[in-house]
Amino acid sequence: MKKIGVLDSGIGGLSLMRDLIKSNLDADYFYASDSANVPYGGKSQDFMLGQLKLLVNKLLEKRVEAVIIACNTATSETINQLRDCYDITFIGIEPYINYLNHTTDENLALILTEATFESKRFKDLVLKYDSKNEVKIYPLKSLALIIESLFEKSFTELEAQIRKELEFLENTKIDSLILGCTHYPLISKYLEKSYKIKTIDPSKFVISHLSKELNIHSTNKKDPTFQYSRNIQSGWMDKHITDFDIFY
Ligand code: DGL
Repeated sequence: MKKIGVLDSGIGGLSLMRDLIKSNLDADYFYASDSANVPYGGKSQDFMLGQLKLLVNKLLEKRVEAVIIACNTATSETINQLRDCYDITFIGIEPYINYLNHTTDENLALILTEATFESKRFKDLVLKYDSKNEVKIYPLKSLALIIESLFEKSFTELEAQIRKELEFLENTKIDSLILGCTHYPLISKYLEKSYKIKTIDPSKFVISHLSKELNIHSTNKKDPTFQYSRNIQSGWMDKHITDFDIFY
């Protein structure tokens, strides 16, 4: 049985965690986040790297063999440095702009955090996969943080803020929306229903990459161990996947 670590600045990586648990891989999971410092957007690369090392060290206490950086911002800013520092496998997540080359969908758009948008890694992705700039790109200032508040507040309390942040969806023709931040899939059902769009979440590709890279396969196992730590200083809690179903 493999032990896999998953990390994010906050609750966003739980969207990937939800898909990981559904994928029935022969693995147990440990999720660590840095909720005291979310969002990472706007923080320096050095600060992010320092915090991520604390998270990785926390995951290593659980003897994980691989860590998924379930955060587009952290992947774009720090994955290369983390790979240089540790002798374990790191798998990242990046805005799936290459979806453009695998679909006949029209009117594609991508939403992502401002920090990911500004990163060199993202600029290189655009040059590589969308040199004609066919995908409309919308960096969003606050959506990740608003979604993070769903941990404490009800969706109804936050809906007006979400709608304001996504105002452009009301006046632009968009059929498919690529979600370039792991917080966003936590509200994908809401997005699809309210704006009549299809959402694209790259989690399943990350999971399939993980399964090949670590040579782990699906099993009949129903309930993998899943432990969660919300703050670098906090202890581990046992959580159940149904807890995520509150988020949309
Ligand atoms: N879930 C993170 C991401 O995918 C949120 C970014 C942040 O903390 O700013 O980018």
